[in-house]
Amino acid sequence: MAKIKSVYICSECGYESPKWYGKCPSCGEWNTMNEEIKEHSSSSFSKAKASTYAPPVQIKDISTTDEIRYKTGLSELDRVLGGGIVKGSLVLLGGDPGIGKSTILLQICEHLGKENKILYVSGEESKRQLKLRADRLNVNNDNLYIQTQTDVELISETIRQDRPDLVMIDSIQTMSLNELQSSPGSITQVRECTNYLMRVAKSLDIPLIIVGHVNKEGSIAGPKVLEHVVDAVLHFEGDKQMSYRILRAVKNRYGSTNEIGVFQMTDCGLVEVENPSMMLLSGRPKNVSGTCVACAMEGSRPILAEIQGLATTTGYGNPRRMSTGFDYNRMSLILAVLEKRAGYYFSNTDTYINVVGGLRLDETAVDIAVAMALVSSLKDVVIPDDSIAIGEIGLAGEIRAVNHISQRVSEAVRLGFKRIIVPYHNLKDIKSKGDFEIIGVKNVRQAFEALTNE
Ligand code: TYD
Ligand code: MG
Repeated sequence: MAKIKSVYICSECGYESPKWYGKCPSCGEWNTMNEEIKEHSSSSFSKAKASTYAPPVQIKDISTTDEIRYKTGLSELDRVLGGGIVKGSLVLLGGDPGIGKSTILLQICEHLGKENKILYVSGEESKRQLKLRADRLNVNNDNLYIQTQTDVELISETIRQDRPDLVMIDSIQTMSLNELQSSPGSITQVRECTNYLMRVAKSLDIPLIIVGHVNKEGSIAGPKVLEHVVDAVLHFEGDKQMSYRILRAVKNRYGSTNEIGVFQMTDCGLVEVENPSMMLLSGRPKNVSGTCVACAMEGSRPILAEIQGLATTTGYGNPRRMSTGFDYNRMSLILAVLEKRAGYYFSNTDTYINVVGGLRLDETAVDIAVAMALVSSLKDVVIPDDSIAIGEIGLAGEIRAVNHISQRVSEAVRLGFKRIIVPYHNLKDIKSKGDFEIIGVKNVRQAFEALTNE
């Protein structure tokens, strides 16, 4: 017999408890615990088990050749997905409101719709709004079907009857299941709607792309509850003031999570940026101290970015430290090394680091460029704009070798850099020769001297 039990679930973080609290014990938010009914039925449990039982198989007998991928027509997106949308997969596309999630989905419909039937479900915009946007994006495909609906059961019914090849849900925060009491967008609704849609899509082997807005804490609503359910999580990032957008795979069961895709938002939608380094370096200030170019590997691609540093005298009290696009603790470590090992004193200066273009660099190979930008600002000595610095800084002030050095050097050469500072121990790996200088350095001081001739 079914046993009815109620639980209280926090709509902010998903914390579950058998009793009500005014303040959630997990995230500390007030008035977020909502009552929900959970049914436990012992007999239906064993029935469900029996119907889905499959015996284990030997790994060699499992075939992977029938993996079908749909190309989206945007090679930057395909790369992030690991080569296209896998048949039967569930992809979560997250990002701030207004970043371009609906735009990218509608855009790929034009190419995907050439051979596949697509169902685009919107809970946010009217058909007219979607049509206007589609006209702007030049999307006018016979195979694209639009549904404005927020009831997940009705959507599932459409999927079952129409059997599209691909389904897009924009956005999961607007969807709801009638049987649940909580409002759309709450953790419970988001989780249950995703599970419901996933069961339908997986049973019919239809790939499903779900849009999820990022909440105020910077994670996709129902963050952890959704991320482990889906096959891939893509994050759309970027500075809304600027036109570039970066698409990053946070999780991908069908590919690497290192790859990024770079786009530019224009009047007629998102345009792929095939040469991100050039874009990130455009508009660099000339003859100014406190800037240095770094090279980071994003997946298989080397990307050059400008790092700006500012060191100013502290007004009062403790010096201020700020870092945008680079790890704060790593910056502190670099400052400590510069002070202790190279004699550049920052203890009475406020220091700021900014990676231009809204990119996040998490690789140690950019250490030296960060250090050089800071020292250049401290000494007010300009680093020539045709110079680039690549290398990791060790705690003894030494410059340590980095991987993929020849790819990084080739990218720098391709973009016209004439003086390339690399770790001394990497020199033997570099074969390229030409109208440029490669200088191997062993420590931070040597690096600064080589860059500025000081
Ligand atoms: P949108 O895809 O609606 O964002 P999301 O679905 O992530 O909330 O993107 C909306 C923004 O993109 C909006 O500010 C206008 C801009 N935009 C363009 O600049 N050009 C275009 O062709 C389109 C369709 C949108
Ligand atoms: Mg949208």
